[in-house]
Amino acid sequence: MHRGALLRSDSLVGAVAAILCCAPARAQATQYKDAPPLLVGAAWYPEQWDEATVDRDLETMEAAHIHLARVAEFAWSAMEPSEGHYEWAWLDHAIAEAAKHHVYIVLGTPTAAPPAWLTTKYPETLRMDENGQRAEHGNRQQFSFASTKYRELAHGIAQAMAKRYGHNPNVVGWQLDNEYAEDSFDPDARAQWHAWLKQKYGTIDRLNTLWTTQYWSQTYDNFDEIPARPKEENPALLLDWRHFVSDTWKSYSENQISAIRPNADARQFITTNTMGWFDGFDSYVVHSVLDIAAWDDYVSTPVFDWAPNAAAHDLTRGYKQKNFWVMETEPAFVNWRKTNNPLAKGQVRELAWQAIGHGADAVEYWQWRAAMNGQEQYHGTLVGPEGKPVPVYAEVEQIGAEFEKAGKALSGTTPVSNVALLHDFNSRWAIDFQRHAAKFDPVEELVAFYRPLREDAQGVDVISPTAALDRYKLVVAPALNVLPQATADHLIAYVKQGGHLVLGPRSGMKNEYDALWPERQPGPLEELLGGRVQEFYALEEPVTTTPVVDGGAEGHGAVWAELLEPMNDATATIAKYKPSPGSAGWLDGQPAMLTRQVGKGRITYVGFWPDAATLAAMTAGWLKDADVAPLLPNVPEGVEVCERAGVGRVLMLINHLTESKHVVLPAGMTDLLKGGSVSSVDLEKYGVAVLEAAR
Ligand code: GLA
Repeated sequence: MHRGALLRSDSLVGAVAAILCCAPARAQATQYKDAPPLLVGAAWYPEQWDEATVDRDLETMEAAHIHLARVAEFAWSAMEPSEGHYEWAWLDHAIAEAAKHHVYIVLGTPTAAPPAWLTTKYPETLRMDENGQRAEHGNRQQFSFASTKYRELAHGIAQAMAKRYGHNPNVVGWQLDNEYAEDSFDPDARAQWHAWLKQKYGTIDRLNTLWTTQYWSQTYDNFDEIPARPKEENPALLLDWRHFVSDTWKSYSENQISAIRPNADARQFITTNTMGWFDGFDSYVVHSVLDIAAWDDYVSTPVFDWAPNAAAHDLTRGYKQKNFWVMETEPAFVNWRKTNNPLAKGQVRELAWQAIGHGADAVEYWQWRAAMNGQEQYHGTLVGPEGKPVPVYAEVEQIGAEFEKAGKALSGTTPVSNVALLHDFNSRWAIDFQRHAAKFDPVEELVAFYRPLREDAQGVDVISPTAALDRYKLVVAPALNVLPQATADHLIAYVKQGGHLVLGPRSGMKNEYDALWPERQPGPLEELLGGRVQEFYALEEPVTTTPVVDGGAEGHGAVWAELLEPMNDATATIAKYKPSPGSAGWLDGQPAMLTRQVGKGRITYVGFWPDAATLAAMTAGWLKDADVAPLLPNVPEGVEVCERAGVGRVLMLINHLTESKHVVLPAGMTDLLKGGSVSSVDLEKYGVAVLEAAR
């Protein structure tokens, strides 16, 4: 289907007006004097090189318009070679020299890589796996996130760094640790787990009731009996373990923040670098104590697919609901996949502009140059071991020059959307604990719903279900499996105020303790929907649906299908299952999709995982009903349209295809990269256009 056919011709004008009215005044992730609004940077390890090499590195960075370097995040042994003895000369030099070359610094606290003296003297700081095995020195992330002694030492180094650099004008911010990831099951962690449970439940009887511990004779007499396990346990325990882990990473962050903040200028932000879809902890919880969000954007598949990456940017933007940073990304290739094939020429730029389009204010390459030894000798870099540019350097230089050209127009702008996709760690965890259908990957399902929404609306906010919803015309929750009453009330209020809520399969099954709701799905939304799920089925074969209203198209789905039941006259069945091998008899002729108008609002329940074409058609209908039009009509499929609005309005067109495309603009715009006013643009393969709309 040609997407342009769905659109109103006045859509652009309407969309612009809608967006300008709602753009937050202070969109920028960070603001500091003199620094360019868009920054290109690199992870840089001056502790590995002599001063002359450091100086040459900075010259080569400046020549590529690189205005940012992240340093020190693994340099504990260089900064504190023995306990309480600090060596700052190398870092003083690197920061001062960087300032001369207009390279701003983000300082990493080095706690992801404790030095050997530390783990030798304090072996209790080492992480312990579930079976009681301590980590050893020699890799990284070998510390326990719960260790009291480790926190004391981490506070010490963070405070010493902040006292030295907290007022340094060239230091713009702090990265805590590096890619929080590993749980620990050491005695400190276990004791804190038990205390955490006691704090949460008050009495053991309450926990026993809410966890249904009569099942398999799990009843506990006291909190200390409760095992610490990340898998193969009561789902209530598993969900609480993840909550405990989230709170522990939050307090791990707070420990270092309490060392930095009193010693640092308010303009210096504090963040950490997260990992896209990683679900080891609840990022909304951890970000509640951070100033901005930042993530490490690596393409984990041999071929770059724009949609999961776009969704991960939007996910990260959703943590603080403002612009973010890409703290690391690949200079064409990594070293940790099975085959580390490179991005094609032009794709590093394609990815950089996609990041900016989705609300990044900085893009940093990992890494500037490889360490001469160590585990990552094969990873992509911007310069070779002798310090001279490798081929991708020229592309990064181009990006740097373009960021300088477009920076002013993009300053203070942010993506604004009237469509939201709800993302919920509890639901992802609960589904992953018991997939029931092996192919039901909650992230894949989320991205499946995201893709047509992003294509047609050309802007999607990916947010927590507890975030404010009033600004959205359409809210889609692809698999909101865990639905506490308070969140359900929030969604009910949204629909009653006139919003359209679309629920995907598996929604509304559990409460916040991962226990089944006594009503069938969608649990506390059953009454609003006026319908429910009679039964759910994991599918081996696909299913087909037929529309109830004449003229609609057949739908197709796979992996999961639910037999729905309308429960009152106001609830309409939109589609039914057709007899097919996948329907196994149970689903034949039964409702597959329900909808109910509630005042000016609407709730829709999709009982199966639709295939791409079916989802595209459904999404087009939801957007049309919600009166959401694309920003730019008639854009060829594969060309992503991103908008950032604020004082002005900038559109970014990104061609994700291997052939060139021509896009006609509805009005004249200023081409910020090539200059001049244009009414259409030619995008070469992986090409980008950055266009400023007239004010
Ligand atoms: C992660 C780490 C970096 C580096 C890169 C390599 O993102 O944070 O230190 O190891 O991976 O891709």
